[in-house]
Amino acid sequence: MSGTDSPLPDDFTVQPPVVRPRRLRANRAIRRMVAETLVDPGRLILPVFVAGGLTEPRPISSMPGVVQHTLDSVVAEARRCAEAGLAGVMLFGVPEHKDAAGSGALDPTGILPRAVRAIKQAVGEDLLVMTDVCLDEFTDHGHCGVLRTDGTVDNDATLAAYAEMAVVHAEAGADVVGPSGMMDGQVAVIRQALDATGHTDTVIMAYSAKYASAFYGPFREAVGSSLQGDRKTYQQDPANVAESFGEVELDLQQGADIVMVKPALAYLDVIAKVRERVDVPVAAYNISGEYAMVEAAAANGWLDRERTIDETLLSITRAGATIILTYWALEYARRHR
Ligand code: PBG
Repeated sequence: MSGTDSPLPDDFTVQPPVVRPRRLRANRAIRRMVAETLVDPGRLILPVFVAGGLTEPRPISSMPGVVQHTLDSVVAEARRCAEAGLAGVMLFGVPEHKDAAGSGALDPTGILPRAVRAIKQAVGEDLLVMTDVCLDEFTDHGHCGVLRTDGTVDNDATLAAYAEMAVVHAEAGADVVGPSGMMDGQVAVIRQALDATGHTDTVIMAYSAKYASAFYGPFREAVGSSLQGDRKTYQQDPANVAESFGEVELDLQQGADIVMVKPALAYLDVIAKVRERVDVPVAAYNISGEYAMVEAAAANGWLDRERTIDETLLSITRAGATIILTYWALEYARRHR
């Protein structure tokens, strides 16, 4: 085997390996048989944006392929999700008018409750309808709560709004509410309000470990938010992981049924560690910036788009997420039927 000027001794021979891990990688069927992780479309949730006052769906430039829906187009999209076997849709409402208090969030005739009603009527029990309980889509300053005169977010005044908002969503027919504002005590007050109004079966999927992330960038365009300042006084510092265990524990004590880690990709360690510590389902949100990065690179021909998407969702599942919110949910489910 070796050439005449090989540096190896003349009597050198390759000892064939006894153990050959490559055997189990030899073809598609065997790779599929030994795969340790499967991404189940029945555990994927598609986040969708529905905007008031639109006549046509409006593209979101930083999220190619994602749009702000009209009431009609969001129902059609939900039908496609049900047909593809997704777990659900997570609805974000974009109101026509925003104000300092985010009062549009509490309007039972607002765009979000109207969308919930219309979708539930169309899909029945085939698809879970979930709603984002947070004020940032509705406030003119873009913060997740109401502000004090000094510009800081008033935790307890915001709780009252969240309680009312969650009940408005539940009355419209939401199966799951997702408090995402990172106010202290938000899960407790929402559970109390839901129970006091007879919505004892409405599920709370709490955005428990939610970081102050640069990766939310494209979401601002998606909900037409011009955030003043940042969210560092209420969302978590990316430097921390133990803090997430505290947040998760608090949400469980307050009645959360499902806990979430968000973002996903830069926080796979957090997903894995939370998974080990709790016995409830763990959701992960594959967010707007994670979507935008892959789409931008793929559009430039720098990444194989479908392989990158599949690997992304596998990695989040492998880290321990039971449920994934991803803008690729519908595409993924259709491609892996
Ligand atoms: C808050 C909320 C945000 C996202 C989901 N819910 C924005 C934020 O907290 O800054 C971001 C989702 C994404 O980036 O895809 N209502």
